[in-house]
Amino acid sequence: MPSVQLLQVTDPHLYADETREIYDTNTAHSLRAVLKDAAMARPRPHAVLATGDVAEDGTPEAYANFRRALATLEAPVYCLPGNHDAPATMATALSGQGFQYCGRAELGAWLLVLLDTHVPEDPAGLLADGELERLERELRAAPGRPTLVALHHPPVKLGSAWLDAYGLRNASRFLGLLSAHPQVRAVVTGHVHQAADHGFGTLRVLTSPSTCAQFKPGTRHCVMDDRPPGYRWITLHDDGGLATEVGWVSDWHRAAPPRDTRGPGMG
Ligand SMILES: [Fe+2]
Repeated sequence: MPSVQLLQVTDPHLYADETREIYDTNTAHSLRAVLKDAAMARPRPHAVLATGDVAEDGTPEAYANFRRALATLEAPVYCLPGNHDAPATMATALSGQGFQYCGRAELGAWLLVLLDTHVPEDPAGLLADGELERLERELRAAPGRPTLVALHHPPVKLGSAWLDAYGLRNASRFLGLLSAHPQVRAVVTGHVHQAADHGFGTLRVLTSPSTCAQFKPGTRHCVMDDRPPGYRWITLHDDGGLATEVGWVSDWHRAAPPRDTRGPGMG
């Protein structure tokens, strides 16, 4: 396989009740619109990466809805939890029959490591000692293998004060570990409902739009953006190269205009 096409979907915020909305968006509908748009844009991906906040209500039914929506792609789906998820419920619902919760995966020449940053009752994230140790074991075991590390919370500040307050609490420890393992080519996250692509030496840090509503970049408070639901393609070349592109649903119409919402927006 010369390269692996990975489709990232993040922050679907699904409910058990598929008629429910968040940020004026029906999240079940917007996820299906994303999958349809992606299917029209490129050949079927080799794998899907879901970087957290899969469920808004943490119910088994919401995860079952996600499983049913993703089944249309007929590709393995690698998942990790966000702050809104219920990790134990998610792990049960999204394991087996084409789905994997956290852990690791080999994608062509690449290693994918999926990390859990969930902290109960906290919108910010933290990598527990066990997760950092697991990551270090993986990186020490395969120093020559290009590696993609996925987690929900970005380890960098994006310039939005309210979002930056809810990032990864031990980001410096995480980035310090990665700096000792240059085979890690990129870190990919969700959580911030916006696309960003930052370079730190040989390391690339990517964030991605949500499959539902977006936050406007560079704001002090939570302000909704009027961009449509989105997703990210990540092409992992077997020589260690990585190419990526964000996709936006092209024919999206909102039921209501975006609101200028003040408040934490992360509860
Ligand atoms: Fe989140």
